[in-house]
Amino acid sequence: MALRNIVKDGDPILKKKCRPVEKFDRKLHVLLDDMAETMHHANGVGLAAPQVGMLRRVAVIDISKEQNDIIELVNPKIIAFSGEQEGNEGCLSFPGQWGIVKRPDYVKVKAQDRFGEEIIVEGKELLARALCHEIDHLNGVVFKQVAERMLTRKEIEKM
Ligand code: CO
Repeated sequence: MALRNIVKDGDPILKKKCRPVEKFDRKLHVLLDDMAETMHHANGVGLAAPQVGMLRRVAVIDISKEQNDIIELVNPKIIAFSGEQEGNEGCLSFPGQWGIVKRPDYVKVKAQDRFGEEIIVEGKELLARALCHEIDHLNGVVFKQVAERMLTRKEIEKM
C-alpha cells in the first residue's frame, strides 16, 4: 500500500465526471488499498478517486473512530433516500474550509465491491452524508457547490 497525493481546491480534475469501472483487476485493488490508507492517514471519513487524480467511479468511506470499518464503493448509485439533515461538512481536498450542507438523512446505495459483486449499503446521519458527498465527487460536484453557505473563519475557530 502507498499514500497518494490528495488533489486540492482549484484542480480542474475535481470538476470532471468519472468513468465507470469495468475491470475488477489488481490495479483496482491497489487503488482501493491506497485510497483507504490515504484517507486514514489524513484522518478523513471518505475519499473519492478523483481526489487522488483518478477519474474512476471509486470511493472509500470509513466513519469509525478506530479506522477499521472501510466501505469500498465501485460504481455506486443512490437508489433511495429520505429525510433531511443540515450540518457542517468538509473535504480533504479543501483543508480548513467548512460549509453547511443539507443532505438526506437516509440513503440506500447500490454499488459493486472490488470483485464486481453487487452490494447494497444503507446509511443514516454521518454515513448518509458521506455517501452523498463521495458520490457527488464522482459526478464532478464538490461540497462548496451544494453548500447553503460556507462557514466564516470565526465560526470555524469556535468549532
Ligand atoms: Co470530499
